[in-house]
Amino acid sequence: MSFALNGPSELLFYVNGRKVTEKNADPETMLLSYLRKKLHLTGTKYGCGGGGCGACTVMISRCDPGTKKIRHYSANACLLSICSLYGAAVTTVEGIGSTKTRLHPVQERIAKCHGTQCGFCSPGMVMSLYSLLRNISEPSMDQLMEALGGNLCRCTGYRPIVDACKTFCKATDCCQSKENGICCLDQEENELLDSEQGNRTCQKPFQEEEFLPLDPTQEFIFPPELMMMAEKQPKITRVFYGERITWISPVTLRDLLEVKAKYPDAPIVMGNTTVGPNMKFKGIFHSVIISPDRIAELNAVNYTDNGLTIGAGCSLAQLKDVLTDMILELPGEKTQTYRALLKHLKTLAGSQIRNVASLGGSVISRHSTSDLNPLLAVGNCTLNLASKDGKRQIPLNNQFLMRVRSSDLRPEEILISVNIPYSRKWEFVSAFRQAPRQQNALAIVNSGMRVLFEEDTNIIRDICIFYGGISSTTVCAKKSCQKLIGRAWNEEMLGDACRLVLEELFLPASALGGKVEYKRSLIVSFLFKFYIEVLQVLKMMVSLNPALGPYLPSEYGSVLEDFHSKHYETVLRYQKVDTKQFPQDPIGRPIMHLSGIRHATGEAIYCDDMPALEQELFLAFVTSSRAHAKIVSIDTSEALKLPGVIDVLTGKDLQDVNSFRDFLETEEILATNEVFSVGQLVCAVVADSDVQAKRAAHLVKIEYNDLKPLILTIEDAIQHNSFYEPERKIEYGNVDEAFKTVDQILEGEIHIGGQEHFYMETQSMLVVPHGEDKDMDIYVSTQNPRLAQDIVASILRVPSNKIMCHVKRVGGAFGGKSIKTSILAAITAFAASKTGRPVRCILERGEDILITGGRHPYLGKYKVGFMNDGRIMALDVVHYANGGFMLDESVFVVEMGILKLDNAYKIPNLRCRGLACKTNLPSNTAFRGFGYPQAALITESCMTKVAAQSGLPPEKVRMINMYKEMDETHYKQEIDAKNLIKCWNECMEISSYYRRKAMVEDFNKKNYWKKKGIALIPMKFPIGLCSLAAGQAAALVHIYLDGSVLVTHCGIEMGQGVHTKMIQVVSRELGMPMDNIHLRGTSTETIPNGNVSGGSVVADLNGLALKDACQILRKRLEPIISKNPYGTWKEWAQEAFNQSISLSATGYFRGYESNMDWEKGEGHLFHYCVYGTACSEVEIDCLTGDHKNIRTDIVMDIGHSINPALDIGQVEGAFIQGVGLYTLEELKYSPEGILYTRGPEQYKIPSFCDVPSELNISFLPPSKVAHTLYSSKGLGESGLFLGSSVFFALHDAILAARQERGFSGVFTLNSPLTPEKIRMACEDKFTKMIPKDEPGSYVPWDIRV
Ligand SMILES: Cc1cc2nc3c(=O)[nH]c(=O)nc-3n(C[C@H](O)[C@H](O)[C@H](O)COP(=O)(O)OP(=O)(O)OC[C@H]3O[C@@H](n4cnc5c(N)ncnc54)[C@H](O)[C@@H]3O)c2cc1C
Ligand code: FES
Ligand code: FES
Repeated sequence: MSFALNGPSELLFYVNGRKVTEKNADPETMLLSYLRKKLHLTGTKYGCGGGGCGACTVMISRCDPGTKKIRHYSANACLLSICSLYGAAVTTVEGIGSTKTRLHPVQERIAKCHGTQCGFCSPGMVMSLYSLLRNISEPSMDQLMEALGGNLCRCTGYRPIVDACKTFCKATDCCQSKENGICCLDQEENELLDSEQGNRTCQKPFQEEEFLPLDPTQEFIFPPELMMMAEKQPKITRVFYGERITWISPVTLRDLLEVKAKYPDAPIVMGNTTVGPNMKFKGIFHSVIISPDRIAELNAVNYTDNGLTIGAGCSLAQLKDVLTDMILELPGEKTQTYRALLKHLKTLAGSQIRNVASLGGSVISRHSTSDLNPLLAVGNCTLNLASKDGKRQIPLNNQFLMRVRSSDLRPEEILISVNIPYSRKWEFVSAFRQAPRQQNALAIVNSGMRVLFEEDTNIIRDICIFYGGISSTTVCAKKSCQKLIGRAWNEEMLGDACRLVLEELFLPASALGGKVEYKRSLIVSFLFKFYIEVLQVLKMMVSLNPALGPYLPSEYGSVLEDFHSKHYETVLRYQKVDTKQFPQDPIGRPIMHLSGIRHATGEAIYCDDMPALEQELFLAFVTSSRAHAKIVSIDTSEALKLPGVIDVLTGKDLQDVNSFRDFLETEEILATNEVFSVGQLVCAVVADSDVQAKRAAHLVKIEYNDLKPLILTIEDAIQHNSFYEPERKIEYGNVDEAFKTVDQILEGEIHIGGQEHFYMETQSMLVVPHGEDKDMDIYVSTQNPRLAQDIVASILRVPSNKIMCHVKRVGGAFGGKSIKTSILAAITAFAASKTGRPVRCILERGEDILITGGRHPYLGKYKVGFMNDGRIMALDVVHYANGGFMLDESVFVVEMGILKLDNAYKIPNLRCRGLACKTNLPSNTAFRGFGYPQAALITESCMTKVAAQSGLPPEKVRMINMYKEMDETHYKQEIDAKNLIKCWNECMEISSYYRRKAMVEDFNKKNYWKKKGIALIPMKFPIGLCSLAAGQAAALVHIYLDGSVLVTHCGIEMGQGVHTKMIQVVSRELGMPMDNIHLRGTSTETIPNGNVSGGSVVADLNGLALKDACQILRKRLEPIISKNPYGTWKEWAQEAFNQSISLSATGYFRGYESNMDWEKGEGHLFHYCVYGTACSEVEIDCLTGDHKNIRTDIVMDIGHSINPALDIGQVEGAFIQGVGLYTLEELKYSPEGILYTRGPEQYKIPSFCDVPSELNISFLPPSKVAHTLYSSKGLGESGLFLGSSVFFALHDAILAARQERGFSGVFTLNSPLTPEKIRMACEDKFTKMIPKDEPGSYVPWDIRV
């Protein structure tokens, strides 16, 4: 055995064309941290660490020694051990282009098409697209969508990224949609493309002709040294000895089998997509890892008379290619299993995972939701095994999948290859899966089904059905299948099959993963789909004998059809700048985010990209595992013993500074005696590396005694009267009297789930103590530097002037980086002060989601009184928000909900109450929209129900109740709703609402199992911070003697492009080109006492402050400029200096007057309203709840846009986040209050597939808005609510299904309207068939909070 004789091997690979050698490669070092920490290539980002977000995407290139072909593929650097990279070439975002050398066209186009906002996802996007283009220089849209499916973006809403990608498609590459035989390019809606209309334009907000061409000859070549190494590999086993793990990579099969015999418990690591996450997230440890990536036998593909034998080491992407070729070459009857496999291989995970995950790894992992195993099992596949003792074959069957020992691999065995036989004539194989999201999501339930008929008949000779996702393993409905043999393929058989399978695969009410009734219904829905699918083909095959095929109603055909929309099209209609405006004046122009290029090249620096400092320490938190408990003891001794651990801080260390004032309540910083939520901070471990700090955190032992009551849900809080003070209430008109005179009264409630911020950059901070004068610098990813400064100063008992907080940029925030961030920064600062060393703290994704809370779950209870013509006369509504264990901003959120609940409607008699519930959940906090998205959904839900009850179209009820012209709100503030009506009317027109509504109705008549829905939802979003002080802003402008300008203000750049807008403002005010003006970031050192960045007003307030500063300077310089009007800024600045005129000025904006008398329920709180309307159309699959967003038209009133490209970005980004809130994102808690959904694997934010196939955004013509910056309106938050148009379109589709099935009457749909809820609302004979569990008779897996 060569490996036993050799010492440690030297690792050799290339990164961006440079050779990297590593003498002591540690198998535990992942490529991501190696790139970032060792090679200082920080362009590749950490977003989740588990392969789920794509932020860490790099391209790997390898040479196949046999074929000498080079394979380029995208991969997640967070899952690749560096030891797996021997002989590979890694390309990172820095390697393909930079501002210092030359931009790559991919980088340029993503930036210039406005595809970056916070920019944190951008390097990953760039690398996914780049890897695709290295293989296919002119990809199709489908190929693009497949390549990008593994990348998430939380800001942009994806549309601009798609636009950028489309510029690489063939010019002739149309939408590929042939709906009605018409290509989208020919459809009438696209008449708007590239057209001019009065003061608006439909031109793309970028200049395609300026783009650099893609020139494949300019790319890196594969390093010749690696090519030679691949060809002349020395036949020696490589061994890498890490601190805790040994990595063994044999080169021959014989060696591999010997190694495996010696270390039978060691995993065989191929893609590391199961082993890696298990080690990282589940704490499974392996001291030896075997890597067989060089074994030729594991990568061989052989075609035999019976089928295909494919090496277990082949990646899923390679398997996909092989199957694609075979399907093209072989007759259909032979490729049934291959087609079924291929169907799943297109949606399984993202391309980065498919490129590395192996077939063998997939088979052996036996995940319960494995998409391939059910199909391989029904396809009668066999596994070729080998060990030192010889070879053997075992079937991939039920016993194998259930890990029955006698049917499993022996520990010393290796899976060499998998035989996938051809299917036979009269045999059919189908694949089904339903996931929470169409792309990159594990299935909730999946299935493989096969049936073989007696020749020329519909009599079942053999049938085999496997399901995944309903048990801990893939399961077989074996007994049911046996009973079906000999039966004819007809409805009677189907009915029996459903009953048998439900009985055999009984799913208990408390089953892991929840969704029990949904899963039961999917079991039968899939069976029905299979039945129809086979029936259709059978009918054709037995056409000579029609008696054999039962009749299939034509409207049933839709069971099998794909959704009727695949293309991606967009029309953006935005305001043109006035032709009289100076060409140099950038206001109103679609200027790219000024960091766009740096985002796309990976050069933009985020907090964790700052280089490590001398003596730097890392801090990791220990959090409560109980929701409400007494802390009996905290034992830190084991943690302190770990090498590198410096300290473990507890509440006792903080002593009398272990608290801070959270608005009205005093909160503990580190829990000492009692914990009130899972995820509450208890200790902080400080160590000399992140790895040691995290390891030590796991060694801290905390003993608890559970306490009662445990209040988790809103209903629990109501029962225990557990609320934060004050309760808010407004009464307008005379509600009780009005109820006496109305025609009808409806009562109801709606529950709206919470939402995780899921900013791509997790909470990050670096605190640097300076020793001298107790000065300290805090670099932190926050929206609220002042608060961080305040809390740190108070915890360290130093004045604020010693603590400076700096923010360059933030990788997304959405409200989630303010209060909690400041607390985390305070603890980190305490550690830095105590140790006298810099301390860094970067939360992992799971910790971040657990600790930080998010949007408040809401319960709205309402009673609405209305007339038969749809007029709502009275509304009595109570809002309950689940606030969690700390007050945070919960009462403010509830207040805003109460104030904004009227949405677009004048309700003459309105009573509303709002209560923030105090519960044992992580503390919920600010989130884009701040109470409005929940409050307005409750109101719109009333509207929908009133329409259903009164038999009127929903748009009519909405229109009749809408504010018109001048009016007053329920808190008696005057509003002018002219633009609300304009948005509504224009949206109706642009979306061709009535025509499409008729088409939807027609579609629904013809399709029983697929339904379409359409909804038009208006929006009024009042803007204002409800306090004069909260709206003040300051700015600082310096002109240097060379004429360049440095600008500072107190707004935080978190993706919204505020710095870009501010430079536009300075450019206009000073009359200076934008590239002369620079902005370095935000700091409490330059602008003191800045307000939190949020509430859609950051550009508005800071822009007014900057305008003030610029006007002061301009005034001072006016005499000099007018004396020398053709001079340069350098000359003017020099002259001012000579005349002793200050070239620096501060500007100030006081804020907007605002008042509210809660006693009277009256106030003037808001400065103006943003109006908008969205029309969305969707299609649902009634059998599975799957849905497709077909088209959305948005019309927004934004006053005068300062930068249409950024403003469109805010609207569509918020819209897609709203689509996530209302239709996708689900936080799941256990009955003990433990959050299950702690990463992208379990918590699904919208992906590329959720963007409506057609998304049209229009801004109204410019209108005047008093006292705002150039009449602009703040757009950060409002668009989020327009996502509810998708919710109500789904509602409409469900209504159509229910009506057809004979369910009349009003029904309630809660948010988010996930596939589960859609399916269960489309009641039918299958949902009737499934067993139902009596609530209260079992302990559910999860609870609704
Ligand atoms: C983000 C993400 C999304 C995913 N989405 C999906 C999805 O939608 N659908 C789906 O089906 N799966 C999904 N998966 C699971 C993925 O398909 C599997 O993790 C993958 O196929 C395992 O392959 P691997 O090569 O990475 O295995 P590894 O992690 O390298 O190994 C896994 C196991 O297999 C064993 N093993 C591997 N090869 C052999 C061999 N030749 N002989 C003996 N034992 C062997 C190892 O010992 C180990 O126990 C997802 C995974 C991730 C991380
Ligand atoms: S960080 Fe690697 S996929 Fe998320
Ligand atoms: S720009 Fe994509 S996550 Fe912010």
